[in-house]
Amino acid sequence: MSFAALWESLLPVGRDGASGGYRRFSWTPEDAACRAWFTRAAAERDLRVLTDRNGNLWAWWDPPGLPGAPGAPGAPAGPAAPGGAKAVVTGSHLDSVPDGGAFDGPLGVVSAFAAVDLLRERGHVPVRPLAIAAFSEEEGARFGVACLGSRLLAGTIDPGTARALPDAAGVTLAEAMAAAGHDPDGIGPDDDLLAAVGAYVELHIEQGRALADLNAAIAIGEQIWPHGRWRLDFTGQPDHAGTATLADRRDPMLPLAAAVLAARQAAASHGARATVGKVIAEPGAVNAVSARVSAWLDARGPDESTLQAVVGEVLSAAREAAASHGVGLAAEPESVSPAVRFDPGLRETLASSLAARGIRAPVLPTAAGHDAGVLAARVPSAMLFVRNPTGVSHSPAEHAEPADCAAGVQALAAVLEDLGCR
Ligand code: GLV
Ligand code: MN
Ligand code: MN
Repeated sequence: MSFAALWESLLPVGRDGASGGYRRFSWTPEDAACRAWFTRAAAERDLRVLTDRNGNLWAWWDPPGLPGAPGAPGAPAGPAAPGGAKAVVTGSHLDSVPDGGAFDGPLGVVSAFAAVDLLRERGHVPVRPLAIAAFSEEEGARFGVACLGSRLLAGTIDPGTARALPDAAGVTLAEAMAAAGHDPDGIGPDDDLLAAVGAYVELHIEQGRALADLNAAIAIGEQIWPHGRWRLDFTGQPDHAGTATLADRRDPMLPLAAAVLAARQAAASHGARATVGKVIAEPGAVNAVSARVSAWLDARGPDESTLQAVVGEVLSAAREAAASHGVGLAAEPESVSPAVRFDPGLRETLASSLAARGIRAPVLPTAAGHDAGVLAARVPSAMLFVRNPTGVSHSPAEHAEPADCAAGVQALAAVLEDLGCR
């Protein structure tokens, strides 16, 4: 099987020598290297590569004698196979969080190529178009909005708003895309492409350790918790750290501290999650009270009302503390994702495909976001999770054992075979 060679060939791309983590941010040279890797892997397999208008990559395995598969020159919109069978798509993403692990995203893409190899080794051919997708900016690590590529595709973010999103250096998405050779004027919903997709199945490393506790290698996704990110800008009065009396200060760091503690408290009391993982203090002098502190709250809950309660409590604690310290506060959501329940029919298909091959696969919810969650609003979608022994993710410590990766490829191949091959 080709998994190991493919995996090894992607590993060096974007790895930071010091941290051992990955910095694969969209529309950077590292992203271009990931795209080149994808294109090479597809070419080695005679798959037809298409970059959609939103910069997502697709590698198509066309059924024999069916030149009209989606994206082919002159391809019709909508159903592309005889009898109206739409495409089966699998994949994930290649971008990373800052110093992320090797598996979050790439495991799904590498496993997809390896599953195609396995199906071919077994003599299968597709009876409906089959594609491997790699969605752009899934982590939102550069432009702030999670699952940006799939959101644009599905039409859940306005293209003009997306084009204007700035990165930390003030470079907009439109500028970054153009610099990387992609036309930003073309971004936006692609109903024809989506209409051609009948099912999306994303394989992903588990971002928790439920599978380790259940002693199983593979799980089927049940639902994604509603979640989102909120940006909080606290504005105070820059001053001297030694000479400004405490009574005279308007220090934006203090209400931030209150907000961080409130996040922990609210998450604990509601059975939810809340994290402040990114903070920027300006101007950033050791010996000065900050002028401004920006912080990002990531909050997730088992249902929408719990999520709202958690965010509400954090924001009111932040407002109260800001007022009492004479600090200004502007808070706004950057990206919010509703609760997702994966398609019950497709989940059933996955369950019976795996059961038929003797693969035990418990059904698990997740509090992590995925392109499958965005696409689920438009296309029947499902997920497979691969065991992560410690559950650690978004960290260089993220890991899956080779035997479990192989089990993931077997599971994905079984699903693709049953959904789209003979
Ligand atoms: C993506 O991994 C997320 O859940 O933020
Ligand atoms: Mn992630
Ligand atoms: Mn991911």
